[in-house]
Amino acid sequence: MRVNLTVNGEPRQADDVWPGESLLYVLRERLGLPGSKNACEQGECGSCTVYLDDTPVCACLVAAGQAEGRAVRTVEGLATGDDLDPVQQAFVEAGAVQCGFCTPGLIVATHDLVRRNAKPTDPEIREALAGNLCRCTGYEKILDAVRLAATRREEAR
Ligand code: FES
Ligand code: FES
Repeated sequence: MRVNLTVNGEPRQADDVWPGESLLYVLRERLGLPGSKNACEQGECGSCTVYLDDTPVCACLVAAGQAEGRAVRTVEGLATGDDLDPVQQAFVEAGAVQCGFCTPGLIVATHDLVRRNAKPTDPEIREALAGNLCRCTGYEKILDAVRLAATRREEAR
């Protein structure tokens, strides 16, 4: 089947999609957007988090057909040209990236958190990111990155 969707503001089309195919597969393998990672394919790790109609979802759990006619925003769509989004910049500056597998999902989840909550507390950050697993960092640098992202966002307002 053919799936028509808007990805990062552009109308896109994927052909020969089979009914059980995930949105994650379509994004990575058919539309050339490898930013969203496939770590578990079971909705456990959050590495595939994207916005679907402005709500963060695990793209591995969304059937491609469910995205028909809808808007998807991936980690690639957060930057403006060569300028990283403040959340992306904060992850780099805080040293919150090691292997990087969890990073795209964490960045989308953090992006969603700081736009909803300008000054998240540590428990609020932990709760918001509870669905995003990281095997490398021990999470402290990630917490630093989220705090920095929230500060930067406040400064930019
Ligand atoms: S790859 Fe989707 S939640 Fe792990
Ligand atoms: S940086 Fe490796 S899983 Fe998070």
